[in-house]
Amino acid sequence: MKGIVLAGGSGTRLLPLTSAVSKQLLPVYDKPLIYYPLSVLMLGGIREILLISSPDQLPLFHTLFGDGSRLGLSISYAEQTRPDGIAQALTIGADHIGTSSVTLILGDNIFHGPGFSHLLQSRLRQVAGALLFGYAVSDPQRYAVGETIEDGSLVSIEEKPAEPRSNLALTGLYAYNNDVVDIAKNLRPSARGELEITDVNRAYLEQGRAQLVRLGRGFSWLDAGTHDSLLQAANYVQVLEQRQGMRIACLEEIAYRMGFITAEECQELALRMGQTSYGHYLLDIVEREATRSD
Ligand code: G1P
Repeated sequence: MKGIVLAGGSGTRLLPLTSAVSKQLLPVYDKPLIYYPLSVLMLGGIREILLISSPDQLPLFHTLFGDGSRLGLSISYAEQTRPDGIAQALTIGADHIGTSSVTLILGDNIFHGPGFSHLLQSRLRQVAGALLFGYAVSDPQRYAVGETIEDGSLVSIEEKPAEPRSNLALTGLYAYNNDVVDIAKNLRPSARGELEITDVNRAYLEQGRAQLVRLGRGFSWLDAGTHDSLLQAANYVQVLEQRQGMRIACLEEIAYRMGFITAEECQELALRMGQTSYGHYLLDIVEREATRSD
């Protein structure tokens, strides 16, 4: 399974914050926004990741992650020269995908909830068509909306409908088998001139090969696409991290716990953070693990 993070888009809804810097590099409390979606791929056990962004922003992401080896990952980079739609990530990423299946995540989506890592690892192992993740929201017209029947299966998907048929938003996390490359290559731009991810998902749905995973009560899905939602996401992370003393989307911790890097490598990453609470947190984790296994 390969991974793609799409950190594209023009970020117009966040101006002037995004005049010089991509939305996905903005802070969400103690780390850049892109850490959160990247953590999802890592929790799913995905280590070969393509990061797609605009040509002017790509060097900044490279400064942040390099080739990914510090985190035990292999991160490569590709340009999206114009924001021509989410589905374009799948054609830009065709070589990266090769003959594998792929998980695509949008660079502004934040997922957090109990058992998520386990859920991802078990569901991503057997993707026969498309695997979509749904979440109940109070403002479904802002998203792709899925309609389901009694047995819970999907029967329709509409992109930002004025009159949504349900409150079930389809999140920016998608897993596909290798057929997605051909499906994406044959897409036509929509009325708004974009290659729509909803058209990819509809193609699978029409073939009866789109499965839905509902992320239910007690789960959090946040997007950071507006000034308010960006601040809400930061507040959410701050409240939970301070209350529990556990960090959300701490990539170094995840890399260590997933066995992508050793204790020594994690310690080295911590020391690079200097005298920050983030660095101390990482050092504590490694020490605690070491005493446990003594
Ligand atoms: C995009 C997708 C939409 C999806 C949403 C999730 O919308 O087009 O289908 O529900 O991401 O974040 P955008 O945020 O680009 O408006």
